[in-house]
Amino acid sequence: MSALLIVGHPRPDSFNHAIARRAEQALLTLGHDVVAHDLQAEGFDAILPGCEEPADGAVDAAVAAHCRQLAEAEAIVIVHPNWWGMPPAVMKGWIDRVFRPGIAYRFLEGDGGEGVPQGLLRARAAVVLNTSNTEAQREAEIFGDPLERIWRDCIFGLCGVTNVYRRTFGVICTSTPRQREAWLDEVEQIISEQIGPPERETRS
Ligand SMILES: Cc1cc2nc3c(=O)[nH]c(=O)nc-3n(C[C@H](O)[C@H](O)[C@H](O)COP(=O)(O)O)c2cc1C
Repeated sequence: MSALLIVGHPRPDSFNHAIARRAEQALLTLGHDVVAHDLQAEGFDAILPGCEEPADGAVDAAVAAHCRQLAEAEAIVIVHPNWWGMPPAVMKGWIDRVFRPGIAYRFLEGDGGEGVPQGLLRARAAVVLNTSNTEAQREAEIFGDPLERIWRDCIFGLCGVTNVYRRTFGVICTSTPRQREAWLDEVEQIISEQIGPPERETRS
């Protein structure tokens, strides 16, 4: 099993990419095999085509590889900025296409899709690292912190990952280089505390 790291941000020189690099380094230091994707750099196609939408639809080979990696991940790290209270479109498209029925969740026998699905992901921990230009209190009180509900409940909770740690770094636009360095050190600490070393696979 490996650790899956996904970053959704258009600029390689962004603070989000600095976060992703530090998270990847921390995972490697802990001994994980890391599967990392910079969605925008890879040109991930965020548009779910009609043929893929049915549960038994034909899935593009690159998306199928993403699905396998998600299903096999022991830990998942997500990095993206707050864009209108949502993930950037490339990250949303990755969710739409990769968290497929049969991979991330399934409906029980006799449930045509109206019930509560069973989560299928095996990851024992998920860490979501966001950036924002809004003060945390305003994000929570005025906007309801939609990214919290999206990741903790609508996505990971539904797909069986209940151990979710989320941290929003900000305010980014007024931050000093020193503050950013401290945040990157915190990223390392979060990965170490929330994910830790890989679990040893036992073979009989
Ligand atoms: C399209 C777009 C929408 C944004 N929407 C929000 C928002 O709703 N709330 C917020 O606090 N910041 C918003 N921002 C600011 C980004 O969150 C901010 O630029 C980013 O977190 C900074 O990290 P970076 O330097 O890695 O890009 C938005 C930025 C863009 C480009």
